[in-house]
Amino acid sequence: MFNLILFGPPGSGKGTQSEKLIAKYHLKHLSTGDLLRSEIAAKTALGLEAKQFMDKGSLVPDHVVIGMINDALDKNTDVAGFLFDGFPRTAVQAEELDKLLNEKNTCIDIMLALEVSEDELIKRLIKRGETSGRSDDTNEQIIIARIAEYHKKTASVADHYQKEKKVMMIKGEGSVEEIFNALCEKIDFIRKQNNC
Ligand code: AP5
Ligand code: MG
Repeated sequence: MFNLILFGPPGSGKGTQSEKLIAKYHLKHLSTGDLLRSEIAAKTALGLEAKQFMDKGSLVPDHVVIGMINDALDKNTDVAGFLFDGFPRTAVQAEELDKLLNEKNTCIDIMLALEVSEDELIKRLIKRGETSGRSDDTNEQIIIARIAEYHKKTASVADHYQKEKKVMMIKGEGSVEEIFNALCEKIDFIRKQNNC
């Protein structure tokens, strides 16, 4: 198996690049943001609970997202690997993910971290908010709250994987294709090294 975390602040291009990476490497895409939005659309109890946090730009409680990832890992037993997008986002989530993967005799191979300036993040998200229908894209204060939440609780998750020397930084500005090629270069290197 080959398991990858695509990491970065809101608007850094995780979703855009994930679509291209899963097509190329046949990985199962697990985006907690997408899973939560499906729960909201289906008006489930979990979705209603999550919406209160997402609308403010705050993180949803750990137990909610860890439960969703646990279910997704159990449901997808016959895959080449997982691409985690928007997860883990706290130290607790990172520890739980390691445990869940360990139980399945696998682990994270690499975390690829997209670096994008704050001005560019805000510009991208405001633009997307014109058409996306995402409640958390519609106003600049909420976008800024999401970025602040990233600095407060999420950025340090990279340190967890850096202890095992599993983090590679990627410039997340430029064309989608340029960034994709830079990600593929790193992935090909690690897959060769890890023999997967
Ligand atoms: P989530 O859905 O994960 O959103 P996010 O991390 O805030 O980031 P986005 O999805 O907005 O951005 P992205 O990095 O995927 O960029 P994208 O490719 O879309 O989370 C939403 C909420 O759910 C959270 O706030 C939280 O409440 C909750 N949540 C989710 N996971 C959680 C967890 N694990 N724990 C707790 N709570 C959780 O690109 C953005 C825009 O830029 C697009 O319009 C795109 O077209 C454009 N773009 C992409 N690449 C480029 C480029 N190279 N140049 C120019 N524009 C570009
Ligand atoms: Mg996304």
